[in-house]
Amino acid sequence: MQRILTIIGARPQFIKASVVSRAIQQAEGIDEIILHTGQHFDANMSDVFFNQLGIPKPDIQLDIHGGSHGEMTGRMLVEIERALLEHKPDRVLVYGDTNSTLAGALAAAKLHIPVAHVEAGLRSFNMDMPEEINRILTDQISDMLFCPTTTAVNNLKNEGFGSKPVNVMQVGDVMQDAALLFASKAVAPAGGDLPEKFVLATLHRAENTDNPERLANIVEALNDTHAKQSSVVLPLHPRTRKLIAEQGLSLDVHIIDPVGYFEMVWLLDHCDLVLTDSGGVQKEAFFFGRACVTMRDQTEWVELIEVGANELVGANFARIVDSVARNLGRRVSDNQQLYGGGKASGRIVEELMNACDE
Ligand code: UD1
Ligand code: UDP
Repeated sequence: MQRILTIIGARPQFIKASVVSRAIQQAEGIDEIILHTGQHFDANMSDVFFNQLGIPKPDIQLDIHGGSHGEMTGRMLVEIERALLEHKPDRVLVYGDTNSTLAGALAAAKLHIPVAHVEAGLRSFNMDMPEEINRILTDQISDMLFCPTTTAVNNLKNEGFGSKPVNVMQVGDVMQDAALLFASKAVAPAGGDLPEKFVLATLHRAENTDNPERLANIVEALNDTHAKQSSVVLPLHPRTRKLIAEQGLSLDVHIIDPVGYFEMVWLLDHCDLVLTDSGGVQKEAFFFGRACVTMRDQTEWVELIEVGANELVGANFARIVDSVARNLGRRVSDNQQLYGGGKASGRIVEELMNACDE
């Protein structure tokens, strides 16, 4: 029996890990230990996903959140190392590009425990983003690199991974597995007073929320869209709620608390357009056939731009409202199966089992 210790801590990681954990349970032969760093801790940012998606209750709960990047990552490093020494896994499994990802990978690598990285190879080529630093460093110390796209594989090749003794694999995107698996569970958010037609918006990236000018531009564009084009429904991330209050901005759209995944799937399936700065939500718009307008300067999911499903508009008021006007109600389709068609988690578990047999 191979022992894998999975490290998760932030909302998108719960969603990604849910489908891989499920595949691990179905395969047998792997004993999975789940460590939750505590990075996200509100019930609607954490517990709801464990309850809805059937993720096993974490075996280790660290409760580390807040503080500066260095402080958060450092505290996680200390505690994760302790957990690894106690549980002695054969391998550590990390997801994406958060501080929890980097702390987990680094703690394991320093103890010579092999690291598998789900969502390897993604790049924005913007080193101002904390996520770019986290993903580059995590890839460097992983020996199984599970890439979601051809672009991700090529990024790693360009960084010289072809000549390293590591395994780079294109397996598809686990978020598509989740979207397909849970689509039938869609449920309207409680409260019941949502507009019939709406733009679904999300906003939380540090490059937008922590830059007062960008945040003000985006808030103005959301307000303008809501007043003149279409109702905007915005499940508001706690980071953004805090910074909007601090900046004294007034956000006049249909604000709701962050929702569970089943509610999110419902919103994706009922909206007329997605307007976001999220990584995951860009792809989910595509999985649910909606056009996406992305309020960032780069995206890691460049294939969505290439097929015309997504438009990058930065934090520019005029570009945002113009792109919303052109894309409202537009449908897109995944006829090229860009993200593996929902088979990523099965492939990942198969490779983990093969690695154990070697
Ligand atoms: C983190 C990730 C980001 C990812 C996002 C997913 C890093 C560097 N960033 O950003 O890549 O896209 O998660 O949502 O790891 N907060 C709460 N309650 C919660 C969670 C957060 O109040 O349940 C507050 C925190 O106290 C903090 C702020 O929100 O003040 C930001 O949280 P943090 O985890 O540092 O970063 P995110 O913006 O969530
Ligand atoms: N999500 C959710 N409820 C919300 C907002 C987002 O379940 O209120 C889901 C969303 O569907 C996607 C994931 O959270 O699966 C994306 O997380 P987020 O945007 O926080 O992070 P990113 O993908 O940008 O790292």
